[in-house]
Amino acid sequence: MNIPRCDQTPAWSELKHHYDTQGRDFDLRTAFQQQPQRAAELSVAAPEIVADLSKNRWDLATRDLLVRLARECGLEARRDAMLRGEVVNPTEGRAVLHTALRAPRGAAPFSDEVHEVLDRLLQWVEQVRDTARSGIRHVVNIGIGGSDLGPQMLVPALDAHLHEGLQFHFVSNVDGHDIVPVLRGLDPRETLFIVASKTFTTQETMANANLARTWFLEGMGPQGEAEIGRHFVATTTNVQAASAFGIHTTFGFWDWVGGRFSLWSAIGLPVALAIGADAFRSMLAGAHAMDRHFAETPLERNLPALLGLLDVWYRNFHGYTSRSVAPYHQGLRRLPAYLQQLEMESNGKQVDLDGQPLPYATSPVVWGEPGTNGQHAYFQMLHQGSDVIPVEFIAVRHTSHDTRLSPALQAGLADQHTKLLANCLAQSQALMQGKSTESALLEQAPTASKALGALTVARHRTFPGNRPSSTLVMDRLTPASLGALIAMYEHRIFVSGAIWGINSFDQWGVELGKALCNQLLPRFATGDTTGLDGSTAALLTRLRG
Ligand code: F6P
Repeated sequence: MNIPRCDQTPAWSELKHHYDTQGRDFDLRTAFQQQPQRAAELSVAAPEIVADLSKNRWDLATRDLLVRLARECGLEARRDAMLRGEVVNPTEGRAVLHTALRAPRGAAPFSDEVHEVLDRLLQWVEQVRDTARSGIRHVVNIGIGGSDLGPQMLVPALDAHLHEGLQFHFVSNVDGHDIVPVLRGLDPRETLFIVASKTFTTQETMANANLARTWFLEGMGPQGEAEIGRHFVATTTNVQAASAFGIHTTFGFWDWVGGRFSLWSAIGLPVALAIGADAFRSMLAGAHAMDRHFAETPLERNLPALLGLLDVWYRNFHGYTSRSVAPYHQGLRRLPAYLQQLEMESNGKQVDLDGQPLPYATSPVVWGEPGTNGQHAYFQMLHQGSDVIPVEFIAVRHTSHDTRLSPALQAGLADQHTKLLANCLAQSQALMQGKSTESALLEQAPTASKALGALTVARHRTFPGNRPSSTLVMDRLTPASLGALIAMYEHRIFVSGAIWGINSFDQWGVELGKALCNQLLPRFATGDTTGLDGSTAALLTRLRG
């Protein structure tokens, strides 16, 4: 594909002009006054999600220019090449086909392999879920990064759908303080360990897997060795290494599944164990529906495309450096962590596909906490800090509480849910509306110091407003809606990565630290600091032993 770099396209120049003449001073409050249809015009419906993008600093003209930019950067051709299975990860010489993992039989490349593993995995899952027979009560997933964050995020999000007789634990950190408290409460006879690692070489995962095996053998006594096969399972592309570890039940996947996109592969095993085969298939179907939306919907109404383009607008024209994610559902408490890997490992790059340095910014920092907790922590900065940080609210209309609870509890929970949703709406409203010093002057602030003049206090109580946000609305958290939500995020980061002309699918940035760690490890035994910089040498001496 002969595609110009984004900053060399005509659309980029027009966007620059548009930003200079209208974008920089765009005022959301004025926009809503002048355009009564704004909320409808800038809302988008996609499978399982309706997104209100109208509280962003853009209008239809901006959107159309961004769509032109996408076309001039060959977004649709790049997307189609990915979906066809072409090598779109050139630095690793790989296709990128996580979409094939959730496509119906026969509808995508590698369908036979994918469905063979999926069927086998889901059959096995149902055997383990028959806890009276399997004897399993606890599932411990040992993995890190993409082999941890997806299942760790989804299992609590699907709380209402979980098997009541199984408890799930996640161990990722090489720090033993992660695994020790998990093992403390467990009985090896009732525990299933999943060793999840695409490569089956990752230091943290191998260390924890070895420790788990030692703990298991100690706990089981003489029959421990013979029982390993029933209590350890591996999800990996490196079946040989798993078997050398002594694991014989292995569910494989392929090098065209990136670690951070692997939730849909065998790496999703904890999710499948938690919710069962039918619900897991429903999650895949939800993701597939979003894939089709991304593949088939014109860019003007294509949710992942529009969000990815807004990211470019904010990062490269407004110069915003971060985006905050605020899921107003406690089940999504690990979503920000999941998105940090998905987005920053994908788009935290500084060279284009040919290795040429880029003159423009790429991935923003992605961070957040569930609402309402974040409101009582860092929202102060979002409202009055010196940086403008676009916020992404996620609101879920209906709760998924246990319907067997007493009527009084149900009523209390319904009331709490209304409070939650009101908070969510109030925050995006407050960010946009702000509060003038004049309004602040008219208010009585109960805790305001009497020693200060009214104007001084009012200035402290002034909010600039005009702070942008998006609100994604889902009906409920279900396997299908979560599948769609996660697939939407995957495609959105593909969009911004494609505009920036980077490889969103490699992660060379994690390698240097790994290599240096391997060089430092033996020095902890010997104390040798020869050739180290002064800081590292002194710290090593202080930390060892
Ligand atoms: O360190 C980065 C990384 O390679 C991620 O991309 C990946 O998700 C994680 O490590 C875990 O890798 P693996 O699944 O091979 O253990």
